[in-house]
Amino acid sequence: MDAAGFVVVANRLPVDLVTGPDGEQRWQAAPGGLVTALAPALRGRESAAWVGWPGVPDAAPEPFSDATVGEDVVLHPVPLDADEVAAHYEGAANATLWPLYHDLIAAPVYDRGWWEVHRRVNERFADATARVAAEGATVWVQDYQLQLVPRLLRERRPDLRIGFFLHIPFPPVELFLQLPWRAEVVEGLLGADLVGFHTPGGARNFRWLAHRLCGADVDGSEIGLREAPGEIRVGGRTTRVGAFPISVESATLAERGADPATAERAAALRGELGDPETVLLGVDRLDYTKGIGVRLEAVGELLDAGRLDPATTVLVQVATPSRERVDAYRRTRDEVERTVGRINGDHADLGHPVVHYLHRSLPPAELAPLYLAADVMLVTPLRDGMNLVAKEYVATRPDDSGALVLSEFTGAAEELTTAWTINPYDLDGVADAITEAAAAVRSRDEGARERMAALRAQVGEHDVARWAEAFLAALGGA
Ligand code: ADP
Ligand code: G6P
Repeated sequence: MDAAGFVVVANRLPVDLVTGPDGEQRWQAAPGGLVTALAPALRGRESAAWVGWPGVPDAAPEPFSDATVGEDVVLHPVPLDADEVAAHYEGAANATLWPLYHDLIAAPVYDRGWWEVHRRVNERFADATARVAAEGATVWVQDYQLQLVPRLLRERRPDLRIGFFLHIPFPPVELFLQLPWRAEVVEGLLGADLVGFHTPGGARNFRWLAHRLCGADVDGSEIGLREAPGEIRVGGRTTRVGAFPISVESATLAERGADPATAERAAALRGELGDPETVLLGVDRLDYTKGIGVRLEAVGELLDAGRLDPATTVLVQVATPSRERVDAYRRTRDEVERTVGRINGDHADLGHPVVHYLHRSLPPAELAPLYLAADVMLVTPLRDGMNLVAKEYVATRPDDSGALVLSEFTGAAEELTTAWTINPYDLDGVADAITEAAAAVRSRDEGARERMAALRAQVGEHDVARWAEAFLAALGGA
């Protein structure tokens, strides 16, 4: 197999190995926004590879290809055994770094044993990448699970051009400093030529930490799609940092939204929901950061107070199963399902639930009609790096109807400024925004249409191709 000139390295491959009820193994699109965003960036590239874990313990398939990213991209599985999945993936990545980087919504666990395994797994990714990358290749390392890889890879292959992008928020410095392995993480990232964040704030935090923890010289030149501080120099090397807000395939989503078959299916869906006056929608991975409980509580209170009519309002919540062996995720699922049960118990009629709850993932072709059927999209995270669902809703709508209720604690809120912005910790504010947005959509309020038009223009122009091009251009110039 030829060495690759362009290599994406991510904790997961773009597809997961799943075993069907018949015992047959097959590949299925992996969950989450990282794959949604990177798949289009890779499609059609020649001499490209993706290095990642196949999503289940102990699987070590040979390199292969898959239509998700195009048949030309070689997918290189990195095997993890069951203990490594527990310590690296469920432990260090998702019970230490994920909650630490999301404002401590859940308490991070600092476990030395997990971290040792995490380090070893990062080394394995660096080794695998070093084998796959051609001389002078460009390597793009992704996300919080692999922050040690840039440095480890540079030690192995100084000839490579290495970029790193963080798909989740980079935390306030006071929080980051809790991490017992804080200097190791910053040094790991400084192995890259370019480190990208969603927001200028994340880039600023990182620059401050590089100075404080690694004694780096930093300066304020500006690169990236949004203004952000620019260069970090330490040990005779320079790492550039920048803000590159990720996005969606706007044109493809718009096409899908404009397809008469999508509109037909959306109308049928509204019929199946009992032809309500107002459809509220939530679509998320089932994660405590997403504030699913916040929107359920707000809707519950509105129903209790008679401000929403259960005869004319439905909430559809689609929640992808996620990280189900991690305690905080189990608790979140229990809480969400208890609240759904309580709201329906109090307000539903036989055959007419108020909350329609699906604990599963839907294919993109089924999400599009849901986005069309939804009068008000509820995106209420307590913290989120970007939130692609918000952008997908906006990009898929075929006209200026509909409304987006959006948490100010998402990266998306920095761009989608004409959404109904809410503070998810202020339940009254969330409830007010939901009723106001629903009323505005019902009355075809001109102001609401202008707000949606501005959102559509923003997402239409700033699509995921632009994100990838900007990052890779900055990396090329690094
Ligand atoms: P995260 O990356 O944290 O999961 P994002 O909102 O940025 O959050 O990206 C989520 C991606 O996963 C989007 O592309 C969205 O369409 C998809 N997704 C989320 N929930 C579901 C679901 N229940 N069914 C299908 N796709 C989903
Ligand atoms: C977010 C993260 C990704 C992750 C995805 C799905 O998008 O930024 O790195 O892959 O969630 O989570 P999972 O734990 O299933 O890989």
